[in-house]
Amino acid sequence: MSRTVYVNGDYLPEDEAKVSIFDRSFLMADGVYEVTSVLEGKLIDFDGHLARLERSLAELDMQKPEAFDDLLDIHRELVRRNDLVDGMIYLQVSRGSAGDRDFVFPDPEEVKPTLVLFTQSKPGLADSPAAKTGIKIISIEDIRWGRRDIKTVQLLYPSMGKMMAKKAGCDDAWMVKDGFVTEGTSNNAYIVKNGKIITRHLSNDILHGITRAAVLRFAREAQMEVEERSFTLDEAKEADEGFVTSASAFVLPVVEIDGTTLGDGKPGPVARRLREIYLDESLKSAI
Ligand code: PDD
Repeated sequence: MSRTVYVNGDYLPEDEAKVSIFDRSFLMADGVYEVTSVLEGKLIDFDGHLARLERSLAELDMQKPEAFDDLLDIHRELVRRNDLVDGMIYLQVSRGSAGDRDFVFPDPEEVKPTLVLFTQSKPGLADSPAAKTGIKIISIEDIRWGRRDIKTVQLLYPSMGKMMAKKAGCDDAWMVKDGFVTEGTSNNAYIVKNGKIITRHLSNDILHGITRAAVLRFAREAQMEVEERSFTLDEAKEADEGFVTSASAFVLPVVEIDGTTLGDGKPGPVARRLREIYLDESLKSAI
């Protein structure tokens, strides 16, 4: 079945939706994006994703698309038109197309941003088998640029990281900079030691995950101990548990790092509990 997608004000069948070959996201990776999950037809953490989008645009001096204030309606309309029950909505804003290739940004008075949204249906998204078994990860060097706090579409290295993991028979990769874990290819990284949840503090080195913010809030509310600081790969391998968070994976246990088994090799109690709390609470506040 063909999806209905959104491009610059229009709802169109996916094969009729078009963007210029001169679009700056295509030529320069000059674009930012958000992924919002949908459960039972409702948007999870929408306000957080919208706030981060606004910040990404501001950090790159990119103008807001005209429809910025209508984004909630557009998300809901796409859910409705595509009968989306469980899945994600992908949103991308680029600096637009000046009709040629040029390193210099186009004049924002003349060139308007490109806004694209589409749905991805994932029936049973909250019941993924990986949540029951946990995932295996490898470590790779973090060679991305220095503004990982901005959610840009420059995803070549994270894609390569995922492929390196696949090739090694694993599910994902954690990236390591100066001996310390930054984050996963498309998620934030955590370890648990003696009941304490440890995850890297916020800075330009990692994406400020919307799921991370919610999960840490729920953990603190449940009287769990949280420490936001860098941790080394060695510390991770000696941890009792590991897990990752993202809008599409929620909370996913990690059971192996570079061939070293964490705990008893099964999803740990902290990760399992946080997943349950996160899914319960975010469904309650879904819109
Ligand atoms: N990725 N870190 C990185 C590098 C990410 O790409 C993501 C999200 C996260 C988690 O952020 P959030 O909790 O706001 O989803 C952390 C999305 C899901 C993606 O690229 O598909």
